[in-house]
Amino acid sequence: MRILSIESSCDETAVAIVEGGRLVRANAIASQMQVHRIYSGVVPEIASRCHIQYMLPVIEQALGLMDGAGEDPLSTIDAIAVTRGPGLIGSLLVGVETAKSIAFARDIPLIPVHHTMGHLHSIFCELPEGQSRLFELPPEGEKSDEKWSSEAGDTRLMEKSGRDKAAFDYPFLGLVISGGHSSLIRVDGPAEMRTIGSTLDDAPGEAYDKVAKCLGLGYPGGPVVDKLASEGDPTAFDLPRPILHSKDYNFSFSGLKTAVVRVIEDNGGIVKFAASENAVRDLCASFQEAVIDVLLGKSLKALKGEGLFRLAVVGGVACNRGLRAAAAKRLKSTHLVFPPPVLCTDNAAMIGAAAYHVDPVSREEALSLNAQAGWNLS
Ligand code: KG4
Ligand code: ZN
Repeated sequence: MRILSIESSCDETAVAIVEGGRLVRANAIASQMQVHRIYSGVVPEIASRCHIQYMLPVIEQALGLMDGAGEDPLSTIDAIAVTRGPGLIGSLLVGVETAKSIAFARDIPLIPVHHTMGHLHSIFCELPEGQSRLFELPPEGEKSDEKWSSEAGDTRLMEKSGRDKAAFDYPFLGLVISGGHSSLIRVDGPAEMRTIGSTLDDAPGEAYDKVAKCLGLGYPGGPVVDKLASEGDPTAFDLPRPILHSKDYNFSFSGLKTAVVRVIEDNGGIVKFAASENAVRDLCASFQEAVIDVLLGKSLKALKGEGLFRLAVVGGVACNRGLRAAAAKRLKSTHLVFPPPVLCTDNAAMIGAAAYHVDPVSREEALSLNAQAGWNLS
């Protein structure tokens, strides 16, 4: 079964073609990162306008990537999948209405997918080299020359470690960490999942972005803080590990962000603090170490509590180099999987992989399907 999938829940317009829930024949992403950079975060109204502008070119890009599909590649598609939620309503609507239109015009079944379920399926995607294309939308006001990069990041870097080197299987624990999500999910089958813990306030990606903003490091914060952290001393500043020792599997990151702000204030304010490159590196390293301690501490607790020995770390923050290294070191008896970075951040390949395990809606339901900004995983 060959599925064309669409993801537009936040600031990436993404389209993929996935076969059999695993083989990614095409993965095209138009990223709005440059557009939102000047605002230090995603502006929902601008995001939905960019999705409208880029949805059709990205679909064409994905169809063009599929080898040997003939003159009408859409005729080889068995189903259309789309992220129905959760996410920004205006952004979701662009994907949902586009998917509905193609499904109706071509009389193809329509499959609505939950975004988090998609992230959890990113670990099963097989992404051959050369099948990914990334395009960064230019900052507002600048002209686009539509240059698609030939390969969207390192598609080979799927990290696995632990006692069982065989293919990853169910049941497993999913740690979903991104700019909007932070959850621990027990996954018993392709469509059997239950949230057992989540953030009480900020998501970790949000904390990275806010810390980067305080330090004047730009948006998104994750990659730059990750890089500076690798050059700093993680013991330099004593930062809290919020609710690490609580009995539940929940997270909290807003206190950590506030602690970072306090360190900057206690050391003479941002101008004085940022004048020392070493201080900035050390604060990034100390912050990252606290995030890693909490994420891995809670994951370990949930693995033990649920009697699981497999952990999949997914979502944008799973790109983090420090987290990948620390997890491999500290969770030695766990079968650990991180997807390649291009499948950690939002993409449509994961939506196509998840859709393989979801029933299509009826033709009547397809016509009235609506996006759901606050869709619950259960
Ligand atoms: O999954 P994603 O693309 O979008 C959401 O669903 O939110 O994740 C984006 C988030 C941003 O907050 C970004 O700062 C964070 O992932 N991120 C990272 C890294 N790369 C991206 N966080 C920590 N370390 C990284 N290397
Ligand atoms: Zn996401």
